[in-house]
Amino acid sequence: MYLVYRWLIATDYSSLTILSRGALIYVHFFSKCTVSSSLLTIAFLLISSAMLFLLGLATSLLYALYRYYSMVARYPRGPFPWPLVGNMFQQDFARQHLTSIKFAPSFDGVFTLYAPVPIVFLTDYEAIREAFVERGDDFAGRPENIVMQEIFMYAPNSGVINSNGENWREQRRVALSILRDFGMGKNLMEEQVLSSVREYLEALDNIKNKDKVDLHWPIQLMVGNIINETLFGYRYKYDDCEKLINYVEDFQKWIGDLAKSPEIAVGFAAPALLKIPFVGYHCLYKHRDNMRKICQYIVDNVQRCMEGYKPDDEPSCFVHAYTQRMPNNAFLDDVNLISTCNDFFMAGQETTTTTLRWAVLYLALNQDAQEKLRREIHAVVGRDRLTRMADKNKMIYAQATVLEVQRMANIVGGNLTHRTTRDTVVKGHHIPKDTFINGDIHYVMARDPHFVDPERFNPDRFLNEDGTALRKDLVDRVVAFSLGKRACAGEGLARVELFLGLTATVQNYRILPRDGEPIDLEPLPMNILQPRDQYIKLEKV
Ligand code: HEM
Repeated sequence: MYLVYRWLIATDYSSLTILSRGALIYVHFFSKCTVSSSLLTIAFLLISSAMLFLLGLATSLLYALYRYYSMVARYPRGPFPWPLVGNMFQQDFARQHLTSIKFAPSFDGVFTLYAPVPIVFLTDYEAIREAFVERGDDFAGRPENIVMQEIFMYAPNSGVINSNGENWREQRRVALSILRDFGMGKNLMEEQVLSSVREYLEALDNIKNKDKVDLHWPIQLMVGNIINETLFGYRYKYDDCEKLINYVEDFQKWIGDLAKSPEIAVGFAAPALLKIPFVGYHCLYKHRDNMRKICQYIVDNVQRCMEGYKPDDEPSCFVHAYTQRMPNNAFLDDVNLISTCNDFFMAGQETTTTTLRWAVLYLALNQDAQEKLRREIHAVVGRDRLTRMADKNKMIYAQATVLEVQRMANIVGGNLTHRTTRDTVVKGHHIPKDTFINGDIHYVMARDPHFVDPERFNPDRFLNEDGTALRKDLVDRVVAFSLGKRACAGEGLARVELFLGLTATVQNYRILPRDGEPIDLEPLPMNILQPRDQYIKLEKV
């Protein structure tokens, strides 16, 4: 013990903690003690061991802190992160779009938040463009983690939205090639959209009480039928669509629950903890089971399509076209087929539906813009036929209105997370390989200084001085579909749906707020920022 004591007083303890000083006092006291008693010796041993233990603990903690802040120093600067929790308590997970609004003004378009793993936020147009377009390959990964594999994918590394590497590249390439064969961006798909729009207008005509209308389900069915027909080759009737409604409701509950579950971060920070049954269930498997339940709709539909599949026939839906390509492509199999259909069905209806629902509310609130849009539609298209994509170039104000709706609706609260595939750089900031990236398109559309008075709905902002063309500098900054290699794979279809859906509604109906009922523009707290269900008034024009 004396040796320990000598060692302690020989140490430069100016750098030690109060704990170690306390230990010295104890050792000193006991070394002076002349009473020889076994009790005292045991007490001495116990207390000294405890002191040594605490000293070791304190040293380990200091070392852990040193390691943590050395790790923090490798990422772009951000708000101060606390050990273990990072910035978790400074973020509202259900309202992710508010995160950058809170922090971005203090940084230069690039900053890191810890949730608790580091996520680099890119919050200006130039940073997102540099990363996703100019260094596209460096930023084209998605997180590879048990949470992504179990909760956000039908099967590990499958489908398009969350897969990685060669499998992602090939699934995306094949899916886009099939959609192009079906006419995405061409007339064929326009016909499909127009059929859906006609049914939708018929449904509106059949509404008895036009003084109290909620357009949520008519819009959902119009959009849902387009992707359902593309993938599975059939459409729902408006009075017989229970399965689709159940899917949509389960999906909305699932994303709503996820937004209220910051505990899924455990799977990113300490996946080993998921092996503890209670922790694993609440932080992961509960959400996975809900996702699988939703996926059953897709599994059933793929099976139903395969019952009528004949390899030599012209494919009549995505499932048939994909299956026909399987023998010649090793990446195509049944699991990836279901996963890809799941991705396109999920991404392909909630987003467009939500945007059109916001359009209704913004136009109800902005009668001048609505009248101006209607005048243009009636002048270019008339009243007896529907708008076609060929009319688009002559309809500058309609284009500006769709852009302004997308900018204001700004439905993606937190963009899908990207992952760097190698060490890289944005705006001079070094970003290590395997870092999670949020290219915050929401912040760009809400706060880019190019948008003067950004909180005002104003399609005119996109027009040049004489109102004959769109301002490219502003159009480029409406990044609702994101940019680069991971940009929305359904952009072509979505643009047709938005343009034809919106113009058909305004061509045929005046959308009005109900007397004494203010329009509620506060989005529901989840990652896809949906409006609350609410009533408006329709007047046939
Ligand atoms: C207004 C409608 C839509 C909006 C605003 C939208 C927006 C987005 C955004 C922001 C992303 C993530 C981009 C990124 O990671 O940087 C995305 C990805 C994706 N979207 Fe859309 N989307 C819409 C409609 C659609 C439609 C109609 C489809 C399918 C027909 C679709 C299919 C996909 C797919 C498959 C991906 C994943 C792409 C990949 O990871 O390679 N989306 N979308």
